Amino acid sequence: MVNTLNKSVLITGQPHEHEYAPRGGCLELFNSRQEEILVSGPAGTGKSRACLEKIFMVCMLTKNTRALILRKTQRSLGSTALVTWRNFVIKEALETGEVVYYGGSQQEAPQYRFKNGSTVTIGGLDNPTRIMSSEYDIVYVQEATEITITDLEFIKTRLRNWRTSFQQLIMDCNPAGDKHWLKLRCNDGKCRLIESRHEDNPRLFEECEEDAPSAKIYEASSTGFIAPTEYGAKYISILDNLTGVRHKRLRLGLWVSAEGIVYEEFDPAIHVVDWDYDADGNRLPLPEEWPRYWTIDFGYVHPFVLKCYALDPDEDVLYMYREIHYTQRLVEEHASQILSIVTKEVVTEWYDHFNREMRERREVVWTEPKPQAIICDHDAEGRKTFEKHTGLGTQRAIKHVHDGIDLHKARLKTDKDGFARFYLMRNALVEKDPYAVEHLLPTSTEEEYASYVWKVSPDGRKQDEPVKRDDDGMDADRYMTMFLDFKGKARLSLMGA
Ligand SMILES: Nc1ncnc2c1ncn2[C@@H]1O[C@H](COP(=O)(O)OP(=O)(O)OP(=O)(O)O)[C@@H](O)[C@H]1O
Ligand SMILES: [Mg+2]
Repeated sequence: MVNTLNKSVLITGQPHEHEYAPRGGCLELFNSRQEEILVSGPAGTGKSRACLEKIFMVCMLTKNTRALILRKTQRSLGSTALVTWRNFVIKEALETGEVVYYGGSQQEAPQYRFKNGSTVTIGGLDNPTRIMSSEYDIVYVQEATEITITDLEFIKTRLRNWRTSFQQLIMDCNPAGDKHWLKLRCNDGKCRLIESRHEDNPRLFEECEEDAPSAKIYEASSTGFIAPTEYGAKYISILDNLTGVRHKRLRLGLWVSAEGIVYEEFDPAIHVVDWDYDADGNRLPLPEEWPRYWTIDFGYVHPFVLKCYALDPDEDVLYMYREIHYTQRLVEEHASQILSIVTKEVVTEWYDHFNREMRERREVVWTEPKPQAIICDHDAEGRKTFEKHTGLGTQRAIKHVHDGIDLHKARLKTDKDGFARFYLMRNALVEKDPYAVEHLLPTSTEEEYASYVWKVSPDGRKQDEPVKRDDDGMDADRYMTMFLDFKGKARLSLMGA
């Protein structure tokens, strides 16, 4: 049934056929049997595809295998790995009925069921009850830098189904900072690190003749030649245009932290927190009695950023719970989107005695507390348009950069018990901006924190001013903190904001 031909794996079974050819790091993953593997590499090298293909192959080859595909949150899994899974990996198997999707029940998580009894369960660590009560042979964690070491240890306790001859945790990720716990775990030898490269993905680089234009040798030890495909050349040029730490991680695949990072205090493991959920898996809103605030940083070519915050007044802790971070949309479109999220139309019936008939009354009600203030950057036109289309008043932000950064750093700093005064709720983003996705730019404020750095002069000295790039979400958080915490006069600043 399985035929490993040179660098290709061909699974042919009745009544379907599926072909996939891993190369480089992806091939190494296929051949590995260690109990813990991390495939790391820059963007788009084929890491996730390889992990999913391995899951598929193991399930096809051994009946009654139990596999699990996992991410920090189920929602993020749906928009990434599961698309590749359905469109490429199990495409033919779904068509022939070899694999069917089962939507889940109160007891069982959603899963793909194979004719041979194997199953692939899917889920998020944000809602672990149904998935973590079972045992598995192979678990794939996508974007493993998002999970904590406690998550990893918990997942490993579930690897004991013993239908297959080896039990394996496979993970993939783009590199994070050099001190990330997962990288340190690999350095310690507790997890095997496999590096994958762009040249490993046949969608980006195809095999070619030695004398073909832009042909280069595939790897030092091989005699094969490859050249970028048309798609690959475009994709690599987008990555080449990235700057700073994003370029190092997403183009070069390096585990590095940004140098001269402004918010050194920010740690996603601390400052990004999970929602509470009810028994049906619905998010529980933050308490009604906590006052709400919005901030806006206007933009069209650069992202327009609107953020909603709730303040726990007893503890003086801010929670950012919703974010719009989007380019190339008009202010009126953003205004109507936010209103559609925070309000709903309620229809009530009443009896019209005069005409003797039932009639309907429609009114728009807020589904969450109205903001006590909407704090905006100084775009007068933008503010006017937003006010006109929402009927809500706005006010100008206090924009002193240094004071804002100092005060925001103070909120991010943890106290002796490990608590900060500023948190981002996980998955607060309303929708991903396709422009940012295509150009590998930050899609949310959470991603901006890692690359917001101080300017460095040509002689290498750190300057007293942040780099004004990919900072729209950063500005919005600063406006919020300034609104609450700024009491005194601004420090003299010549740099404007
Ligand atoms: N061996 C292969 N043959 C054909 N297509 C492939 C192969 N490997 C990857 N691809 C395709 O390349 C695209 C990118 O692959 P994938 O999403 O696995 O990359 P990734 O390394 O996980 O990216 P990211 O770093 O963004 O998570 C997908 O469309 C995938 O189907
Ligand atoms: Mg991936």
